[in-house]
This record gives sequence, C-alpha cells and structure tokens, in this order.
Amino acid sequence: MSAVLSLQDSGPRHFLDLKDFSAAQLRAMLDDAAAFKRSRANPTRKPLAGKTLAMIFEKPSTRTRVSFEVAAKELGGDTVVLSSKDMQIGRGETIPDTANVLSRFVHGILLRTDRAAKMHDLAAHASVPVINGLTELSHPCQILADLLTFEEHKGPVAGQSIAWVGDGNNVAASFIEAAARFNFKLRLACPEGYQPRPEVLAWAQAEGADVALGQDPAWAVENAACVVTDTWLSMSDSEDEAAARAKIFAPYQVTNALMGKAAPGAIFQHCLPAHRGEEVTAEVIDGPTSVVFDEAENRLHAQKAILTWAMG
Ligand code: CP
Ligand code: NVA
Repeated sequence: MSAVLSLQDSGPRHFLDLKDFSAAQLRAMLDDAAAFKRSRANPTRKPLAGKTLAMIFEKPSTRTRVSFEVAAKELGGDTVVLSSKDMQIGRGETIPDTANVLSRFVHGILLRTDRAAKMHDLAAHASVPVINGLTELSHPCQILADLLTFEEHKGPVAGQSIAWVGDGNNVAASFIEAAARFNFKLRLACPEGYQPRPEVLAWAQAEGADVALGQDPAWAVENAACVVTDTWLSMSDSEDEAAARAKIFAPYQVTNALMGKAAPGAIFQHCLPAHRGEEVTAEVIDGPTSVVFDEAENRLHAQKAILTWAMG
C-alpha cells in the first residue's frame, strides 16, 4: 500500500493518480463502474445523497464537466461548477485558503488545471476529497473509462496488449500507470522529445509493468488489441508549437494502414476531442474499429465509481 493510501485511511479520499491505488482498489472501481452502467435505468444506490461536488475548471471541458455533473446528480448529489477566472483564485486568493473555504461548503472538489502542483496543494489543504479532472501531467479519470470500454469489447485487459501512438502526454502517463496496476502490456511509439516523462516510465518499470517505449508506430501496434492516440497539442502546450508539432507527428497519424498492422479485431480509442486529419484519419475514427463514443459515454459510469469511492 502506498504512502498516499496510508494517508487516505485517515484523511480525505483523494483521487489524484492511478499509482496512488492498489491493483485491487482500481479493479473494484472498474467493476463498480460496470455495475453502475448496467443499473443506470434502475438505480439502487444514491451514495451522494445530500452531498455537493464543486468542480473548478481552469481549462475547457465537455466530457469531464458533463459526465461528472450528470454522475453526481444521478447518485443523488449536487454540483457547483466554477471557472477559476470567476473565482478569487483568479485574482490571487491562495490555494490553501480556497481549499479551506470550499471544504466548509462542499463534500468534494474536482480540479482541472495545467499545473499539477496546484492540485497537490489543494489536496494537501482540503479536508474533503480532491479529484484530478486533468492536469498537464495526468488524466486518471479518463483511463478508467478507457479500460471499461476496452473490457466491454475485448474482455479482461490483464495480459492483453495496448498501443499508444503519438504524444507522450498526460493521458499517456495515466495509461502507463494503469498498465502497472491492471497488468496489461503497453507499447508506446512517441517521437523523440515528446516521450513520456522518464520518472513515469521508471516508476512503471520498478513496479514490474510490461511497458516499453519506442519511436515506430508499426512496432507499437504489432499484436495490439487496442490502438490509442490523442491530440498532438494539449491544452497545456503553446499554440505556437502547433505547426512544428504537425510536422514532427505526421508519421504518427493513426490510419487504416496502421490499424491493419494491429491484431485482427483491434479497436481504436481516443479520449476526445479529436482532430480528424491530424492524429487520426476520419476513416479510422468514424470507422468500424472506433469505440470513441462508447469511451466517451463510459466517462459517466467511471465517474460514478470514482465519486462513490471518494465521497460515497
Ligand atoms: N476527454 C476529456 O477529458 O474531454 P474534455 O476535455 O471534454 O473533458
Ligand atoms: N491531452 C489532452 C487531453 C484532453 C482531454 C489535453 O491535455 O489537452
């Protein structure tokens, strides 16, 4: 059990990164997500009754915002959605003061920010659970939805092979952590200079994860049951880099030809929003191997499992 989990035993149940959890805890959350999906029409549980989740967005969001809002409400809770530019943190109120004040009003706080340090500061000072709604370094809520989707289409993920093609970004980092905890093989093809942070890979390797990094998309997708990509320019990256990145990442576009090199029946995943003609062709993302809208829907079911664990 990690140090964070030891703290969670006595303090708030933060959901910050997948590596903070044991394999058994994450498996239980994923199974709970599947159960929430099955029972959506006839819900038997209202674990958030009388509870309110505050969500602070320093960056845009469609899926995270709507899925958490609907999830909290379907679980019997309520939400307050805030943009940091409308809050006093936008004019310099400190994160510790904000954490203390919100902890008196609400029962959980989700934060989307491009400074992970802010999220950790919030978690350190909040007396209610803090949920990572995406930082520049990770996106753990997304990966639970991705694995729920994978298992619906391909069966238990343990021992199977997933390929990540493109930018070694925040979503890739959470996939690496997931590979260690869910015991699947992960091959990442990322151009030089855009590879996942060495400490994330080192952590996974120290955990015994079957994770390998290369630069060749064809190598990464060989025998993969699922091919995953994401935008070439994340919200935390400068728009000024767009043209240079488009050139560097061009060989990493997920095409039908690349999908043809994966295992027969391989599926395509993308956390969305997508850019057709950049990281993926329209024929792939709108074609028969794509499960991106199941993946988007599964955010809702996965968020319910996370909210129940953290606040229920
Ligand atoms: N995938 C995802 O997190 O989408 P949003 O940015 O719309 O929340
Ligand atoms: N890597 C993307 C994910 C968006 C959900 C970003 O950070 O912008």
